[in-house]
Amino acid sequence: MQIIHTVAELRNALKSQTSVALVPTMGNLHAGHIHLATLAKQQAQCVVVSIFVNPLQFGANEDLASYPRTLDADCEKLKAAGVDIVFAPNVQEMYPNFNAATNDLGQTMIISAPPIAKELCGASRPGHFDGVATVVMKLFNIVMPQVAVFGKKDFQQLFIIRELVRQFNLPIAIIAGDTIREASGLAMSSRNGYLSQEQKTNAATLNTCLKQIVDSIYQGNTDFIGLEQAAAQNLNSNGWLTDYISIRSARTLSPASKEDTALVVLAAAKIGNTRLIDNIEFTRI
Ligand code: PAJ
Repeated sequence: MQIIHTVAELRNALKSQTSVALVPTMGNLHAGHIHLATLAKQQAQCVVVSIFVNPLQFGANEDLASYPRTLDADCEKLKAAGVDIVFAPNVQEMYPNFNAATNDLGQTMIISAPPIAKELCGASRPGHFDGVATVVMKLFNIVMPQVAVFGKKDFQQLFIIRELVRQFNLPIAIIAGDTIREASGLAMSSRNGYLSQEQKTNAATLNTCLKQIVDSIYQGNTDFIGLEQAAAQNLNSNGWLTDYISIRSARTLSPASKEDTALVVLAAAKIGNTRLIDNIEFTRI
């Protein structure tokens, strides 16, 4: 497995490759990321995993500085998973016009994500999906993969990346990996490392709440707003600060109507200072 830090070296290493799959990550890898790398291996001869904590997708009061950076441990895991290349650029390499010391964008060019990026996670994280779209576009242009793999855990992100590929006519197939969870149901996340043991036990209630909504809809409940409000109250009384719980069309991500059958229930909530997200995609019969 090669560990590469510059665009020029990566281009050189990929020169003769015709079958490349890319898995973009921000590192601090867990079983969810490794699952995506395994899916990528089934899709292409050469698997590139990028590790880059993207400053453009963090808000001013978010955890950019404290986000866990664990490159050596990550590389061990990726080697064991059969990954061919780790691409771990620094900020200067990715954004030559960006001043990392002052967080000044300078002349950096940024993709403007569509209005759906201002809803759900975008409502409390302005500019987040512009930053995601920009870094993913850059990674696509640097690696030029035939296939790229993303997790359903970040459902809105996956939706926006599919739009990026469709609207910018990128010749890249997007593969979606299922969410890998702890035995408790808690979705694995690099941010789970911020939780105390007690918070981690409590954190599983986020998934339990989503499951209860899905069950209730299966039983014929179509009062989506009522379900969202009750779940938020339930979470808040269990020590969470709910950002949103929303039942949406899995196809368009607009608020679900009674006619929609392909649905997704998404949530974001804070436990202590840690903001966690989760979702369940399901079909109403
Ligand atoms: P990161 O949070 O590191 O996640 C990298 C990829 O792993 C994403 O596609 C995410 O959906 C997926 N993932 C995270 N937790 C998962 C889990 N429990 N099960 C399955 N897949 C999971 O998402 C990002 O980084 C960044 O926004 C990025 C796309 C790399 C752009 O900077």
